[in-house]
Amino acid sequence: MNIPALETGVILIVDDNPNNLEVLSEALIDTGWEILVAVNGEGAIAQAEYACPDIILLDVMMPGIDGFTTCDRLKSNPLTCDIPIIFMTALSDTVDKVKGFSLGAVDYITKPFEQEEVLARVKTHLKIRNLTKQQQAQNQQLKQEVAERLAVEAKLQKLTQELEQRVEERTSQLSQALHNLHQAQVSLVQREKMSALGELVAGIAHEINNPVNFILGNLGHASEYTQSFIDLLRLYQKYYPQPEEEIANKIDEIDIDYLICDFPEIISSMHKGTKRMTQMIHALRHFSRRDDTVAQPTDIHEGIDSTLLILQYRLKANPERPEIQVIKEYGTLPLVECFPGPLNQVFMNLFANGIDAIEESFVNSNFSVPEYQGKITVRTDINEQSSGVIIQIADNGIGMTEEVKQRLSEPMFTTKPVGKGTGLGLSISRQIIEEKHSGTIRFQSELEKGTEFWIEIPVVIN
Ligand SMILES: Nc1ncnc2c1ncn2[C@@H]1O[C@H](COP(=O)(O)OP(=O)(O)O)[C@@H](O)[C@H]1O
Ligand SMILES: [Mg+2]
Repeated sequence: MNIPALETGVILIVDDNPNNLEVLSEALIDTGWEILVAVNGEGAIAQAEYACPDIILLDVMMPGIDGFTTCDRLKSNPLTCDIPIIFMTALSDTVDKVKGFSLGAVDYITKPFEQEEVLARVKTHLKIRNLTKQQQAQNQQLKQEVAERLAVEAKLQKLTQELEQRVEERTSQLSQALHNLHQAQVSLVQREKMSALGELVAGIAHEINNPVNFILGNLGHASEYTQSFIDLLRLYQKYYPQPEEEIANKIDEIDIDYLICDFPEIISSMHKGTKRMTQMIHALRHFSRRDDTVAQPTDIHEGIDSTLLILQYRLKANPERPEIQVIKEYGTLPLVECFPGPLNQVFMNLFANGIDAIEESFVNSNFSVPEYQGKITVRTDINEQSSGVIIQIADNGIGMTEEVKQRLSEPMFTTKPVGKGTGLGLSISRQIIEEKHSGTIRFQSELEKGTEFWIEIPVVIN
């Protein structure tokens, strides 16, 4: 937009009197302004619309429409309403002057014209007019700049948003990929480990089973035969109370009374030991059941018991600590359709973590209360609402810090030293419960108080 110079201007003079027109034109001609003339109101309106003058000098008394009507029409026309109008009126006519102002005129000049006065007034109003125009132009320019800036800002904001969204999308894709990778890794490790270990355990259990049963079976006979020999010996003693010297010496030497008393006890403890071995074998075979293709009706309690039996060596007292107490609070459960092998593995992981946490609390001097006794509680129940089976495994071990809790779902996260912890136990357990059994696994933990895991699985997998 062009900004007008203050001294330029287009002046429209409207008067029906050629004399007046001439006088005024003369007064203004030297200024360099462009002078337009009209001899009546209609002509003035047409010229004003067409040429858009900077000031209109308007006579009041004219044939046709008079100056006031002309002024009124100019003021109500959007093309001409901003043009300042100066009325030309007789010196004495106060009414006309007032009326002119009320119609929107900016000033008046009186007839007969004083050239100096006309010039001064027109000059002043032209200056005001041009200043106003300048201001308007600047305003317009500012508005445009603001609009442009706003548009650029909006564009920038949109771009930033798009960028943020893309970064977010990409980040989530990446973290999903990472998560999948971890899961796949966990699965792989689990499968590898389980198949190798499961095979080994099942093989050993099978191989040991036969000879142990053999021993167990024969121990019955052995005990029977021993008793017969002892009875026979007693009969000899009864009927031959004075044996030959060599026999008497032998009796003394081997302390026959002690032997007779101790031997059945030896047999009985061998029997007990072998019985324990068969139980352990049963537990191992149960634990490593390689049956992950079809879910089958399972006694959950038997799975828990087998697992605890296998873990007995870790629960027993040792030089660092007394025995860890296991409290079973079993509810009445139906047979649960599940994969017993993997499920036992979950129990194993949770019990092992509980034992680790209890041992940790013995190592941690802050926590060594003299009467502290490591305790693992396993509770089972039916959830009345969902009719799922609940298995709670709680320990009074060291518990978890907030950081550990936050990171618990990360595969391979462990706080245990290399060689002891793999950080896979819980990931594997979560996978087994959530993916294989459509169940849920949650936990609650308080530092230096203990931890509780809460598993729920449906009685029948959907
Ligand atoms: N019962 C628990 N008490 C305290 N911390 C636990 C318990 N169970 C798990 N954690 C924490 O979670 C981590 C991950 O457990 P897990 O996945 O079984 O791997 P790992 O036992 O090999 O470390 C452990 O290192 C431990 O910090
Ligand atoms: Mg573990």
